[in-house]
Amino acid sequence: MGLIDTYGRRINYLRLSVTDRCNMRCSYCMPEGGVEKLSHCEVLSYEDLLRIAREAVSAGIEKIRVTGGEPLVRKGILTFLEQLAALDGLKELVLTTNGLLLKQMAQGLRDAGVQRLNISLDSLQAETFSKITRGAGLAQVLEGIEEAERVGFPPHKINVVVMRGVNDHEILDFVKLTLTRPYAVRFIEYMPTSGDADWRDLCVPGAEIRERIAAQYQIEDAPSSERSGPSKNFRVAGAAGSLGIITAMTGHFCDGCNRLRVTASGVAQSCLFAGSGVDLRPVLATGDDALLRKELQAIVAAKPGKHQLTEEGAEATPFAMSRVGG
Ligand code: GTP
Ligand code: 5AD
Ligand code: SF4
Repeated sequence: MGLIDTYGRRINYLRLSVTDRCNMRCSYCMPEGGVEKLSHCEVLSYEDLLRIAREAVSAGIEKIRVTGGEPLVRKGILTFLEQLAALDGLKELVLTTNGLLLKQMAQGLRDAGVQRLNISLDSLQAETFSKITRGAGLAQVLEGIEEAERVGFPPHKINVVVMRGVNDHEILDFVKLTLTRPYAVRFIEYMPTSGDADWRDLCVPGAEIRERIAAQYQIEDAPSSERSGPSKNFRVAGAAGSLGIITAMTGHFCDGCNRLRVTASGVAQSCLFAGSGVDLRPVLATGDDALLRKELQAIVAAKPGKHQLTEEGAEATPFAMSRVGG
């Protein structure tokens, strides 16, 4: 049983965005002035998010990743996470964060039952970091990362969006970090999410990233964990940590896709690039959770075999990553 789509893919991974708000303004995610925020009443209540999660799990979802915007800025998040962690049948509760609030929240996250963290960290140099995030402090994030290790989280996954001329000179510094630290550093190809025309200049293809690393280090393939996302993993021989590349633009990992997304406003998307998605609010309003489950099953059944995004389409389609949660 479980959620199987028409292409035979088993959908067991739900990415649940709890807010579109964020305490950073990363250049690759939103325009300088930010994006129009959802109004308070457009954002789903925790109660409704929990109903969705519960029905998704009873239909076959085994892993939930809580995303944003930045999930830690939403009030009451720890109590919500505790409720998610208690769902019968859920095997993995994980969260993606920019790390700014980790120092004060790491212990609470651990106590709430979050099992692992993915942390966005696009530079190890304060000035570049501040430039990419439009003003955030690197030191605060690094302290948060350390605190999360101290309270007992397993080695973090670190997400690096690689941009030519911005932070690509740091690829080898991130590789070096894995020699002594057990992190899984994943390099992500820059995606043109806000209709920008110069994305081709910024995007460093995954193959080039790998070649640049292989020119300096002896590398070997590393396995992916169960229910994991689209990262192709490898490591420097003998290193404490591992490396991965997410070919968001040049790779096609649709064949192995195992995920379903729900945005903070209650739109279910069976694909990151699915466009409008299905608004779950009408079915939530009926109060009938069996119907909600059926709706989720129908959305999975209609999941496209592969995304329709062409390079030209990517340029033309303004797409706010902070709403969908990556
Ligand atoms: P694991 O569950 O730990 O494997 O993490 P993940 O890679 O699924 O999650 P994370 O939140 O760390 O996402 C990393 C980034 O990979 C996303 O934000 C996107 O940039 C990219 N990504 C994830 N899923 C997809 C996808 O289905 N399509 C594309 N094009 N990119 C994706
Ligand atoms: N291109 C690639 N990755 C992106 N992310 C956000 N916007 C983009 C983009 N334009 C990634 C962030 C974060 C994850 C949730 O989404 O690095 O780690
Ligand atoms: Fe915030 Fe993440 Fe977007 Fe950066 S990428 S602005 S941290 S939501």
